[in-house]
Amino acid sequence: MDKKTFYITTPIYYPSGKAHIGHSYCTVASDAIARYKRMSGYDVMFLTGTDEHGQKIELKAAEAGVTPKEYVDKIVAGFQDLWKLLNISNDRFIRTTDDYHVKSVQKIFNDLHNKGKIYKGKYEGWYCTPCEAFWTETQLVDGKCPDCGREVKWAEEEAYFFKLSEYADKLLKLYEDNPQFIQPESRKNEMISFINSGLGDLCVSRTSFSWGIPVDFDPKHVVYVWLDALTNYITAMGYGSDDDSDYKKYWPADVHFIGKEIVRFHAIIWPAMLMALDLPLPKQIYGHGWLLFGDGSKMSKSKGNVVDPVILCERYGVDAIRYFLLREIPFGSDGLFTNEALINRINYDLANDLGNLLSRTTAMVEKYFGGVIPSEKESADLDSELIELATSLKAQYAANMDKYQFSNALGDIWRLISRSNKYIDETMPWALGKDESKKARLAAVLYNLCEALRIISILLEPFMPQTTPKIQEQLGVNADIVTWDNADKWGLLPENTVIKKGETLFPRIDVAKEIAELDEILLANAPKQPAKEDKKEAENVALIGIEDFAKVDLRVSEVIACEPVKKAKKLLKLTVNDGIKERTVVSGIAKFYKPDELIGRRIILVSNLKPAVLCGVESNGMILAADSGEDKISVIFVDDIPVGSKVR
Ligand code: MSP
Repeated sequence: MDKKTFYITTPIYYPSGKAHIGHSYCTVASDAIARYKRMSGYDVMFLTGTDEHGQKIELKAAEAGVTPKEYVDKIVAGFQDLWKLLNISNDRFIRTTDDYHVKSVQKIFNDLHNKGKIYKGKYEGWYCTPCEAFWTETQLVDGKCPDCGREVKWAEEEAYFFKLSEYADKLLKLYEDNPQFIQPESRKNEMISFINSGLGDLCVSRTSFSWGIPVDFDPKHVVYVWLDALTNYITAMGYGSDDDSDYKKYWPADVHFIGKEIVRFHAIIWPAMLMALDLPLPKQIYGHGWLLFGDGSKMSKSKGNVVDPVILCERYGVDAIRYFLLREIPFGSDGLFTNEALINRINYDLANDLGNLLSRTTAMVEKYFGGVIPSEKESADLDSELIELATSLKAQYAANMDKYQFSNALGDIWRLISRSNKYIDETMPWALGKDESKKARLAAVLYNLCEALRIISILLEPFMPQTTPKIQEQLGVNADIVTWDNADKWGLLPENTVIKKGETLFPRIDVAKEIAELDEILLANAPKQPAKEDKKEAENVALIGIEDFAKVDLRVSEVIACEPVKKAKKLLKLTVNDGIKERTVVSGIAKFYKPDELIGRRIILVSNLKPAVLCGVESNGMILAADSGEDKISVIFVDDIPVGSKVR
């Protein structure tokens, strides 16, 4: 009989900059599931890749003085190297610049156009040629471009639109009929309110830049990057090509793993496109949370933590990083990444609990029995609790893995590890070893520990694929008893198995010394100091009295909505709750933050600033941000502080 298939995908990553630990998070999670499903008998297809088109990449390449393709080639190679380093077992890697993808996207665009689901429409407004931006009448300042102050002219631009608005009811019904479609649950509610607030048609072509897939029947247009990107999940399987056998075999995907900020694209636009094409829909969209760093920000750069995945793997080993990512943060929630938490996990969970269990067990088999446990064994009542826990572990673990609850699945394994360590303390093999008449009891104790470790090694493989073969080698087990089928069976370790203590799996780390070394690495890679002028400015600023400062009312407030200010490239319009009421604030941070990165975050609001109208929007307050003098503005986040708190 053919095996059941399981198709899992990661997002395809933008190669606009180097692959980082945030990207690694989703890829490692997907890899753990792909390995788990393969181990438990599925025919798995695991896809990842890169999303290479769009204006941002075009601009970055221009800045670097290379072609967009040259630019992405280098970064994509870095992504592929990182996946190799992290032991990622993807079956395929798609690049949206691959020929077959380009052709299939063009075909899909044509099909949607022929079906009347894509139509040609018009963007219109006041156009500033140097800024390449459209403005509405109200956004103009004195009739001129609000960004650069130059003359504007009335212009119209053709664009293709996808009839997304037709799908509002169908999407709501989809969510209702398939409660598992969007996970976790809270993300579904966000999608429902988004749809209920009105779903317009979606502009799916651009003429303002050329680094994209040309619409073949109207080549001055390139396909909107999200339409191009989302289709990767089917084009990579051969959809729209001469050989679509993998598409037929694996589609629909069992799950798309994605970060929470792109759930909207996957849970609204993607199913609507598939409905328009009359194709089956993916079975589930899982929106995981973000890794946050020292200051609670999403991005990883130089914020008091060494988070470069290559450095981390070099210092601690790949499996320690894989373990930490999936153990520390419940999938679906945001979680803080700190070096200290990582080192603690390595010391407590890996070196102490797992590493010691293995080294103590193998060392004692060598010491007392020369590496081979005798066949004569004497069991005791105490054994049954350990055996019961070990043989029931697989079912619990599977239930958690099937819900993508990695942290709980690892917690299950660690319960057996702790129980086994406790079993050593209870049975005191060192005392048994001193008494010749207790040899049979000692044999049983050590055998049970080896069996527990055998089961642990099977279930750990999806998380720690480099470590588990090492455990199995020390236990001397053959491949046939470390299979999924044998993970709930007891007593499989054959007589005469030769057990030998091997290298330490995870050496303990001296926390203080390590943190000091990490600080040195940080210092070496630290961004440049603000320019001299800024320092001088800081030295020369006039002093104020406390009564002056007291005039400023600063309040912790939460961003509850955020959107770009139309045609004002630099501005974002935020709706914030200051603990008493909601208000609108306009902030010039659009270059540094996407709206989704701010929603749900807490910031410090200057709440008693006089209202001002910016590009037609009334702003009631200002949010605090630090200007590091290097073309970088960082909003000050205070996520742990209650909304409404006064800052003084
Ligand atoms: N190219 C689009 C996805 C298209 S899928 C059809 C994209 N790329 S991205 O490179 O910006 O982000 C890719 C994924 O990385 C997202 O799911 C995002 O959530 C994830 N992460 C980036 N930084 C992250 C963290 N700090 N933590 C966890 N994941 C984060 O969006």
